[in-house]
Amino acid sequence: MNNYTQELRDTAKAMVVEGKGILAMDESNGTCNNRFDKLGIPATEDNRRAYRELILTTPNLSNYISGAILYDETIRQSTQDGKSFVEVMQNAGMIPGIKVDTGAKDLARRPNEKVTEGLDGLRDRIIEYYQMGARFAKWRAVITISDRIPSDGCLEANAHGLARYAALCQENGLVPIVEPEVLVDGDHSLNRCYEVTEKTLHEVFRQLYVQNVAYDRMILKPSMVISGANCPIQASVEQVAKATMECLLNTVPSNVPGIAFLSGGQSNIKASAHLNAMNQIYGVQAPWRVTFSYARAIQQPALEHWRGNASNVAEAQKLLLHRAKCNSAASLGNYNA
Ligand code: 13P
Repeated sequence: MNNYTQELRDTAKAMVVEGKGILAMDESNGTCNNRFDKLGIPATEDNRRAYRELILTTPNLSNYISGAILYDETIRQSTQDGKSFVEVMQNAGMIPGIKVDTGAKDLARRPNEKVTEGLDGLRDRIIEYYQMGARFAKWRAVITISDRIPSDGCLEANAHGLARYAALCQENGLVPIVEPEVLVDGDHSLNRCYEVTEKTLHEVFRQLYVQNVAYDRMILKPSMVISGANCPIQASVEQVAKATMECLLNTVPSNVPGIAFLSGGQSNIKASAHLNAMNQIYGVQAPWRVTFSYARAIQQPALEHWRGNASNVAEAQKLLLHRAKCNSAASLGNYNA
C-alpha cells in the first residue's frame, strides 16, 4: 500500500455516495466559448469566471453533488469577492476535481479517429493540482462509430492513454475518472453501439490491468449504450437501460466503486430517465453505484437562462439545482419526469 491507498478509496466512495453525482464543469476554454457564442455571451475570461461562480455558489448544490470537475483556468479562479473556487467547494462539502487531458487529436494514419493527448509532464501537473486541493481527475477518450471504425489501433491507443493517466493519478493521490466516450454521432443501431462499447470497455480494463491500476480506487465514466443520433429507430428508455447495464456487467470489475455516466448530448429529460431506469431495474443487484457525471444535461437550462446577465443569476441557479435534484433522484431510481 502506498501512502494514498486509503485516501483514494475514501475519495472514490465519497464521489459516488448514495444520492449524489459528479458535476462536470471542465469545459476547455474553446468548448466553453463555443457554448457562450451560441447564446451571444461574450467569450471573455471574466464571463467564464462569472459563469463558474454562478454554478459553484448555487445554494444547496452539495445536497445532490459530491464533487465537480474543474478546468485548469477555473481551478485558479476566485469569486467576485475573492474566495478561491477550491475554497468555496471545500466549504460547501464538494470535492474539487480537475480535467488533466489536453484534448482529442487526430490519430495518425487513422482517418476520422482520435487519440487523447496529455501524458507529457502529467506527473508534475497532478502533483501541483493535488497541492491546490484537487482530489480526483478526469481524462476523456473519444471513440467514433461507423461501419469501419473504431479500429483496434484506435481502441488500444486510447485505452493505453487512459491507463497511463490513471496510474499516474493513483501514484500521486488523485482518484482517476476513466472516461471512454463512445460518441452518439452517426446512424448506427443500439446493437452496434453495444458491440463497440463492450469492445472498448474490455480493452480499457485490459490496459488498466497492464498498467497496474487499482480498480477499487477509480471511477468509470462511460457513455450509455444508445441508438446513434441519426438512427431512424430510436431505442426506448427501457432498452437503453437494459443494454447499458448488461454491457457494463459484462465488462466492469465488481470492485470498481462507481460508474458515473456522461450525458453525451442527450436531452436533460432523457439523461435523467435513462439513469433512473437503470437504477430501477438493477438497483441493488449492481455491484457498483450507478450515478451521473453530466455537464450539458445539468448545466444547459441554467446557461440558457443566465446569458451573461447578472440579474439572471438567482433564477439560473434554481434551474441548475433542479437538474441536479432530478439526477440525484434518478441515481436512486426515484425520478419522475
Ligand atoms: P456531457 O455530460 O455534456 O456529455 O459532458 C460530460 C463530460 O465530462 C464530457 O467530457
